[in-house]
Amino acid sequence: MARREYKPVARVSEAVPGGTPVEHTPPPDDLGYDLIPKSRYTSEDYMRLEWERLWTKVWLLAGFAQDLEEPGDYICTEIGRESVIVVRQDDGGVKAFFNVCMHRGNRVVAEGIDNAETFKCSYHGWEYGRDGRFVNLPNGELFPQGKPCRGLVELPCAEWNSLVFFSLDKDVMSFEDYIADIAGHFEPYKFDRMVITRDATAEWACNWKASVDAFNETYHVAATHPQLLWYLNEMDVQIDCYERHSRYLVPFGVTSPRIQRAPEIPPPLKFMMTEAGLDPASYEGPVDGIRDIVQKHIRATAEAEGRDYSALNDDQLTDDYNYLVFPNLTFNTHADHLMLFRHRPHPTDPNRMFFDAWTIEYIVDEEALPTRRPRHKIIKDGDRSMGMVIDQDGGNLPKVQAGMNSAAYQGLWLGDLEVRIRHFHKVMDDYLAD
Ligand SMILES: [Fe+2]
Repeated sequence: MARREYKPVARVSEAVPGGTPVEHTPPPDDLGYDLIPKSRYTSEDYMRLEWERLWTKVWLLAGFAQDLEEPGDYICTEIGRESVIVVRQDDGGVKAFFNVCMHRGNRVVAEGIDNAETFKCSYHGWEYGRDGRFVNLPNGELFPQGKPCRGLVELPCAEWNSLVFFSLDKDVMSFEDYIADIAGHFEPYKFDRMVITRDATAEWACNWKASVDAFNETYHVAATHPQLLWYLNEMDVQIDCYERHSRYLVPFGVTSPRIQRAPEIPPPLKFMMTEAGLDPASYEGPVDGIRDIVQKHIRATAEAEGRDYSALNDDQLTDDYNYLVFPNLTFNTHADHLMLFRHRPHPTDPNRMFFDAWTIEYIVDEEALPTRRPRHKIIKDGDRSMGMVIDQDGGNLPKVQAGMNSAAYQGLWLGDLEVRIRHFHKVMDDYLAD
């Protein structure tokens, strides 16, 4: 069978100096076409190996720096069997600790976001400062052997593009090395000027990798999200694979090549034009010219509207630059918002996972700014909507997981549009190898 070649939709727009690199980095040509064994998604043995060699070795997202503005602001987040506190220090730095009292092992704080003068264990009152050091050990005379240690056990921590990361491995490679090949890719979006407008966690009945996969390929768009075919091209995406991370660039503002001929401007494209400040009724050009005029119009009007897109190239004004930051972060980056997904494993069950979804938005109109941070929404097995597209993805996944557990199924049979999944498994192999 002839292979379908990637065709850039329009030109990939010229890189802006200091902007997001646009060079195409093709997948390594030794990825092959082997079946990916289903046991990676279903077996407890593989899950254990992931815990020992992946989750406890990589850099992981704690949350947003905007939740850590003041000294003592902290995020307590869970990953597998561990709970971690990331806290803003008095000197403006940030530190991470295992959320474990060194006395009898109690959790010191609950999962969530808050501010604390000190961290005091509710069991016997052992108390730790923001820097993790002991500040009070009640009735110290009862411990002639002294203190067990200096305080909470500290972990590596790093801030990057207004995001805060930690690692469970005290000897982890530097964060700079970990993200070296995409180091400058997000700076042009300036996440620090965006505010959190959504914070939700769903528990889904699937393996965490099934969820990563659902956002790592556009092949499923036609069957799962047919409504998207009217305003994006899911076939001609530029796919770039780096050392451990990857991305695809999805053109928005065009119709899919699966749509033979759009008789008139499809409603979602009309909406996109209106949003950009254009009047669809007065547009007489072809449908495939819309992306270009939308980009030009956004560029021309941004300054007057107080929006600074000077570090973004023209394609970034319409398109989704979708990244996987290995192992479990999906970034859908747009000029004025970021949809960030974090895929977390269940502590014990390979058939369950946690899907965290945040949106941050660039809002220049002071009056439109949210008056307070959104509350964290918890959703279990689709009992509340997360929006149509995510509901469509989340609706597939329990059925995918059930089918993967069938005797009939052997593993993932991946095509060229799913090459990021193959690349992801190659990186997994490198981590899980002895
Ligand atoms: Fe999807």
